[in-house]
Amino acid sequence: MNRILIADDDAPIRITLKKKLEGWGYEPILAENGEQALEILTAKDAPRIAILDWMMPKLCGVDVCKSIEAMNMSQKPYLILLTQKDSKQDMVTGLESGADDYICKPFEPEELKCRIEVGRRITAADDKIHNYAQNMESLAEDRAKQLIHCDRLAQLGILSAGIAHEINNPVGVISGNAQIMTSLWKDVSVLVQKGIDENFGDTTRLKFVQEETADMLRGILDAASRINLIISSLKTFCRRGSEETIQPCMLNECIDTALVLCKNTLKYTADIVCDFDESIPHITGNKQQIEQVLVNLFNNASDALSSIGRGKLTITTKREGDYVTATIADNGPGIPEDKLDRIWEPFFTTKGEDKGTGLGLSISKNLIESHGGFMDVCNLPDGGACFTLRLPVAKP
Ligand SMILES: Nc1ncnc2c1ncn2[C@@H]1O[C@H](COP(=O)(O)OP(=O)(O)OP(=O)(O)O)[C@@H](O)[C@H]1O
Ligand SMILES: [Mg+2]
Repeated sequence: MNRILIADDDAPIRITLKKKLEGWGYEPILAENGEQALEILTAKDAPRIAILDWMMPKLCGVDVCKSIEAMNMSQKPYLILLTQKDSKQDMVTGLESGADDYICKPFEPEELKCRIEVGRRITAADDKIHNYAQNMESLAEDRAKQLIHCDRLAQLGILSAGIAHEINNPVGVISGNAQIMTSLWKDVSVLVQKGIDENFGDTTRLKFVQEETADMLRGILDAASRINLIISSLKTFCRRGSEETIQPCMLNECIDTALVLCKNTLKYTADIVCDFDESIPHITGNKQQIEQVLVNLFNNASDALSSIGRGKLTITTKREGDYVTATIADNGPGIPEDKLDRIWEPFFTTKGEDKGTGLGLSISKNLIESHGGFMDVCNLPDGGACFTLRLPVAKP
């Protein structure tokens, strides 16, 4: 910010200006001709202010100004033409070439000092606007990507809701018929037993039928009721978006639903230990969104545990003052200390593009904070990561 280019072919003037600028606290950079000046001003980390002589070899000061103007730079340097040409027409030509200020030689050092100060103020404001615009641009880009992700989640929700609906009917038929067959079996098993007792036909086969049929029917009924449970969890999860209701809900129940949704993944990777405080009060919120957060945490824990083969996932709930707290701890590899802050950033993932989007935790944090809560993470002393959700207790 304090560097200023002095471009003048006259060595004594360069030296005088250099001393003055140093006295005023600037760091002068020297050029002997226009070509050098242009090179310095268009390089990376170029000085933001330049004092250019008009008459210089190779490229004159006005041509340097014209070249810079033509480049349409996002952070154009502040150009002061310092020249013996003192007619009004020269001044107009100089300023029209793209110079920001025009000072005639001989000049009063105090005047130059003030005009440099003006340039410093203008370039500082320009830099501030430039940085602000850049931040806004990347923020807009992040938001757009988040929206696309949310849209994809919503599409997935609609698709899952459709599939859940379609599965409902055939599962109803399976469990209804299995129930009828279970009650019919009571009569049939008497006949089968009679066949065995009277040595009728293939008795080995009859014995097998007698021993296995009841278990098989029970198996069908259990499987059908598990499908029903998954369907109802999916339906609850998919209602997200269509029914953004805020209502009193129990964190323990949200965890149960999320666990059912993740059961297929977790069964290969985690032994689950639940330590719920059953007396915790209700929280107020959008149940589906809280479940979405938990699903992401369970999937993350599952991924972490699969990297060591299999491990333990401990879920605890309790009340802490005005908050209800859930901790989700795994004994996987944990998170490298230098990444602990970065995991909340949108698109931060260590899973590779085909596996993770890196949006899970950033969306989760937003959702929890929109509920007036907090999300935290730490590494456990014995290894593994521990995520904490804190949500405010529902107001009576
Ligand atoms: N329990 C955990 N143990 C170790 N690292 C974790 C754990 N949870 C999250 N991380 C790290 O945080 C990163 C970001 O997680 P996040 O949920 O935001 O995205 P992701 O899981 O990579 O992708 P997505 O959620 O879209 O599938 C992960 O890639 C992983 O490196
Ligand atoms: Mg994730």
